Amino acid sequence: MSLIVAIDGPAGSGKGTVTKLIANRLDLQYIDTGAMYRCVALKMLEEKVNLEDEEKIKNILDSIEIDLDGSKVLLNNRDVTKRIRSIEVSNFASPVSAISCIRTKMVDLQRNLANGKNVIMEGRDIGTVVFPNANVKIYLDASPEERARRRVEQNEKNGIESNYEQILNDIIERDTRDMSRENSPLKKADDAILIDTTKLTIEEVIEKIISIIEVSEK
Ligand code: DC
Repeated sequence: MSLIVAIDGPAGSGKGTVTKLIANRLDLQYIDTGAMYRCVALKMLEEKVNLEDEEKIKNILDSIEIDLDGSKVLLNNRDVTKRIRSIEVSNFASPVSAISCIRTKMVDLQRNLANGKNVIMEGRDIGTVVFPNANVKIYLDASPEERARRRVEQNEKNGIESNYEQILNDIIERDTRDMSRENSPLKKADDAILIDTTKLTIEEVIEKIISIIEVSEK
C-alpha cells in the first residue's frame, strides 16, 4: 500500500522547505502542486490568455504537459524551474488557481502523479480535496508578520531588494483571496494536524512531522 503525506498551508509557512527535506530523508516522492498552478499561470501569461476566456483556457489545458522531475519543473519539456518563481507569475498564479476547470485538471494530474507511489505532496487543498484519505495530513501555519520576515530574508539571500510592508500586505491579500475563493479554498482539513511554525526552526518542524508519519505507520 502506498503512503500519502499531505502538507497544506499558506505561502511562507515553511511548507516548501520542510516538504523537500522530508522527501529526501524518508525517500518519498516530492510533489509541489503550487508549481503546477504556476506553470499554468506562466503559459497563460506567455499566450496572453484572458482569465475570462474559458475556451482559450481549455485549449491551453489540453496542450499543457507538466513534469516534476525532482526539484526541476518542466512545462512541455522546457525547464521553467526559475521562471515560475518570478513575481509576475506568483501574482498571476493566485487568480489562475481559482478557476474551476484549471483546478479539476490539476487535481486529476496530482492524483495520477501519486498513483502507486509513496508521496509527500504540498499545496492548499491536498488534505481537503486531492487526497481526503491521505495517511497523514498536516496544516502548517505561521503569523503573517513572520512569513513576511522570512520572505524578506529569502529575497536578501537571492539579492532581490524587497520592502517588508509591501510583502506583508501582499501576503495578507493573497491569504484572503486563497481562503475566500469558492473553489477549494485554503483551509485546514478537520482531521489535519496543525503546526504553527512561527517560533519553530525548520529542523523542529521536520522532526515533528517525521514523528507523526512514523506513528501513522505503526
Ligand atoms: O505554493 P505556491 O505559492 O507555489 O502556490 C502558487 C499559487 O497556487 C498560490 O496562489 C496558491 C495556489 N495553489 C492552490 O490554489 N492549490 C494548491 N494545491 C497549490 C497552490
